Amino acid sequence: MKKIKVFAPASIANVSCGFDVLGFAIEDLGDTLEAELNDTGKLIMESIEGGNGIPLEADKNIATIAAQALLDDAGVKQGITFRLKKGVMAGSGLGSSASSAAAGAVAANELVGRPFKGQELVYYAGLGEKVASNQLHHDNVAPAVLGGFTVVRSSDPLDVLSIPYPEDMHIVIVHPQVEVKTQQAKKMLGRTISISDAVIQWGNIAGLVTGMIQKDYDIIGRSMVDVLAEPKRSTLIPKYAEVKQTMLDSGAIGANIAGSGPTIFGICKGRDAAERVLSEVRKVYESDDLMVNYYISKVNPEGTKVIS
Ligand code: HSE
Repeated sequence: MKKIKVFAPASIANVSCGFDVLGFAIEDLGDTLEAELNDTGKLIMESIEGGNGIPLEADKNIATIAAQALLDDAGVKQGITFRLKKGVMAGSGLGSSASSAAAGAVAANELVGRPFKGQELVYYAGLGEKVASNQLHHDNVAPAVLGGFTVVRSSDPLDVLSIPYPEDMHIVIVHPQVEVKTQQAKKMLGRTISISDAVIQWGNIAGLVTGMIQKDYDIIGRSMVDVLAEPKRSTLIPKYAEVKQTMLDSGAIGANIAGSGPTIFGICKGRDAAERVLSEVRKVYESDDLMVNYYISKVNPEGTKVIS
């Protein structure tokens, strides 16, 4: 195999209460990366389509950083030329850097005979993501690589668990196009939380995971409470409270900020409910001079895959 193309999906991290630990992959939106063996012994990012300002230099680009770390650990000195097509907008909260990192790690792994698998690939994608957000967190890269709904029980050492979720779960995704930088959104949170907030937060994380495993929408809905990030970060998102309330009033089980925002997501039972929620939410921004993207997606069970 000399040349392949991989697709790495966008993802929604935190899922309300699970800051830096919960995430799931979504369908259709994602990065596509072409990777071709070369005989220079070096990684080359030849072109990036749709990636405003993303560096091409191999030691600065997230996909090539992840790929290089993987090749180094595999003991393989192999040159690869990459062409990246960004389908996830940077600063959207939909795991843009994680998609690129996952694509880089998986593509390099495939081209050199798959020395690594599963969680090991999450580890290498995480090394790319770390450069993007200046912090080691795997809540986007884990679902981007593995697909499905993931729990990062520990980042160091890495321990990622995949959990089931209701098959008819549909996600309404609303992306008002104001840019929120993950690093800035992380700083807003400060460095400590109170014990009383921590107790609320870990009760809800346990509840949300239980709800997913038991496929019980009532438990999922009442566990989608975040006292850590949402109160602060929602101030960066135009009409956040109104969008969230509209989602809940029109049938969403729960709604919150995707990753560090500004995208807002709502969890719905079934496609019809999601369509209803989406059509109500569209009205909220109707009169605003703001670009807003809308999607409906199921959870993507596949993660990063070779498409040709
Ligand atoms: N868990 C991260 C955060 C996701 O909320 O900052 C963004 O990459």
